[in-house]
Amino acid sequence: MQNKNLKKGVKIMILGLTGILLAAVIIVYLASGGFLKAQYLEPWQKSYSDIFDDPRIKLAAHGILAANGHNMQPWNIKLDTDKNVFYLFADSERLTKEVDPYARQTMITQGTFLEYVRVAGERLGYKADITFFPDGEYDEQNLENSMNTKPVAKITITKTEPKSSSLYDYMFLPDTNRGAYSKKELTPEEIKQLHAILTDSDMTLEIFQDEDNKKNLGNYAIVGAKIESGIHRINQESANVFRANEYQKNKYRYGFSVEGQGTTAIMKHVLQGIITLFPSINNEKNSADLYVKSTQTGVDNTSGYAMIITKDNSRTEQVKCGMLYSKLILTAHSLGLVMQPPSQVLEEYPEMSEQYTKIHKDYAPKGGTIQMFFRIGQPTQKFPQSMRRDVMDIIMQ
Ligand SMILES: Cc1cc2nc3c(=O)[nH]c(=O)nc-3n(C[C@H](O)[C@H](O)[C@H](O)COP(=O)(O)O)c2cc1C
Repeated sequence: MQNKNLKKGVKIMILGLTGILLAAVIIVYLASGGFLKAQYLEPWQKSYSDIFDDPRIKLAAHGILAANGHNMQPWNIKLDTDKNVFYLFADSERLTKEVDPYARQTMITQGTFLEYVRVAGERLGYKADITFFPDGEYDEQNLENSMNTKPVAKITITKTEPKSSSLYDYMFLPDTNRGAYSKKELTPEEIKQLHAILTDSDMTLEIFQDEDNKKNLGNYAIVGAKIESGIHRINQESANVFRANEYQKNKYRYGFSVEGQGTTAIMKHVLQGIITLFPSINNEKNSADLYVKSTQTGVDNTSGYAMIITKDNSRTEQVKCGMLYSKLILTAHSLGLVMQPPSQVLEEYPEMSEQYTKIHKDYAPKGGTIQMFFRIGQPTQKFPQSMRRDVMDIIMQ
């Protein structure tokens, strides 16, 4: 009798625990928004641009897939009355002034967009002629007003025969992989193909795979991450655009999310649910520690680094650098390679100035500006796509 009661008790306990566990799983899943459709991923579908009749919007729908600083997607498009013309403006309401006080990354981000537009045009049968700053470069003393009034580029499209493009399909892959890369170095042939992209004599592309440079550059990445993660106002800026769950991701469709660290599937919902229910887990210290740790893992698993250096630091050069960066991403993808820019040491705020000067002394001793510094290699892990806005939201009325 006693034995029977004990067995019954154990059974009830197991059932009770299972119930609690199930309820916990459901609560976490609900908090994560796991049942919601991920609208913020719709622009990644190859058929996404088909719903638009206007070829300019079709092309812009490809542009928004480009890599961009802080995933702010600071792009505005103005459609001209001439149906073959549209303008790209930098969105002055989407600046990240703490990490990017001179909007240099924002300008590079204009270029990444333009290159995706150009590549999409080739494939869809629209030659895109790009004129940089058709109304002149910005007034630096009045930067935000300039962004609102002066286009970064005028894009004129001409109908052509659709061409098969070796790069088009790679636009639909995630641009940034922050994971571990394999130890395998880039082959001379791969390096040759990456160098072959560069046709502008005002820019250079440097690729480093030797131990000394790898050590030195890895160190820059780590020191940069450590400095940055210790600055409250910068942590705040990133935290403000962190989207903790599917509700927020669908609402804002820009900024950071757990996918940025490669978290997918059920783990994504577990993490999102927990962060939503217990936001203090994602506090400044924990996020900073995680960021430094993931930078260290990245550095420990990097077979090569690269840099884009421009002769001067004009707005046009910055935009052109962005175009080159996009082209490199697409070409890298075509070779089975991935990239990630640990940009911290290139950022122009006071606490970073010593590192900024040092890396320029080391790698651009004759002058010039290092615009992009990035890891490159073979991925060990597939990364998920990140949020993108609806293209109609970037069309200016
Ligand atoms: C100018 C520029 C600077 C960037 N800096 C960093 C960086 O410091 N660290 C990083 O992990 N990714 C960086 N990125 C990558 C963006 O964070 C990334 O493109 C954006 O979050 C969208 O994600 P996706 O590229 O995976 O689509 C940078 C991209 C650009 C264009």
